[in-house]
Amino acid sequence: VPLRGYNSFGIHARAHTLVRVTSEADLQALREDALLATQPKFVLGGGSNIVLTGDVKPVVLKVEVPGKRLVAETDKAWIVEAGAGENWHDFVAWTLDQGYPGLENLALIPGTVGASPVQNIGAYGVELQDRFEALDAVDLQTGQSFTLNAAQCAFGYRDSVFKHQGGLGLEGRALITRVRFHLTKAWKPVLGYLDLEKKMAATGVAAPSARQIFDWICEIRRAKLPDPQVIGNAGSFFKNPTVSTEQCADIIARDPRVVYYQLANGTVKLAAGWLIDACGWKGKSVGNAAVYEKQALVLVNRGGAENPATGGEVMTLAKAIQTSVYERFGILLEPEPVVV
Ligand code: EPU
Repeated sequence: VPLRGYNSFGIHARAHTLVRVTSEADLQALREDALLATQPKFVLGGGSNIVLTGDVKPVVLKVEVPGKRLVAETDKAWIVEAGAGENWHDFVAWTLDQGYPGLENLALIPGTVGASPVQNIGAYGVELQDRFEALDAVDLQTGQSFTLNAAQCAFGYRDSVFKHQGGLGLEGRALITRVRFHLTKAWKPVLGYLDLEKKMAATGVAAPSARQIFDWICEIRRAKLPDPQVIGNAGSFFKNPTVSTEQCADIIARDPRVVYYQLANGTVKLAAGWLIDACGWKGKSVGNAAVYEKQALVLVNRGGAENPATGGEVMTLAKAIQTSVYERFGILLEPEPVVV
């Protein structure tokens, strides 16, 4: 099965078999299939946060569990649920249409609902963990269904239990089927970001609605991030690194223009996009893999459908960026997507 259409980078790779999973019953049937039951499996959502560097495990499970619904309403909150196969952005738009605000800052993030907890998606001051209630999943080894709350998901910055192996780690072991969100009725806009403050200043809107913020976020993202339907990419390719105050002072000494944010715990978060940009990477390429001109943190596939970049080209470019940022600033950037 060719996988080029199943990853947002548009990289060529193959799997032996692709199984569409729309319910727990499909997984049960798979366990009873003499040929497929024992084969290694790879769980695929929207494919928007992966880099394929070779052929994938024999059986790819394409998660297509459907459904969007209000599960419960109290005087304080709405609990809404979506099937793991639902498109994330469409789900965000649906919650606003229904009158449940809270997810608007996460508009236009590519991928599926089921993938959203894996890397604890975040943008413009909101992370998935801030709105998360619980998720349902199936253990691929035992076939057992289970539910996890936020603490059990061990969310961190672009991190969760689903990105770790060994111990309690669930990487490669769990298939998320449904995710529930806690959307408070005491909604308050999250506006701290410079890009949003600029929108408020430009429009004169001082108390924006959730719908207004949703529209602004869509405009901001469209202006600086490539649409994966047009140019293959997996969003930010590196995480923003966290350093100590001393390390930050060292970097300021090397270049006082560095962009950084003071965190509550005394550490400092650096803008990886700035570090890469400062090393002159915007627009540079290896084969058909390139650094996006408008946002140095995003690597893109310049080859389109005819001549797509290979996973090897993407990783060669990524390693060259890591080396140059390390030599200039002493910081080792960590990839953000899952390298398969
Ligand atoms: N910058 C540059 N040059 C660049 C890119 C950025 O100088 O080429 C500077 C910008 O001027 C800005 C700073 O770096 O001052 C930060 O840039 P930006 O606001 O674009 O955000 P980011 O830190 O690069 C993060 C997330 C994005 C998220 C935005 C908004 C990560 C790895 N990335 O990007 O998430 O949309 O903030 O909240 O945390 C993703 O994870 O795929 C993603 C797109």
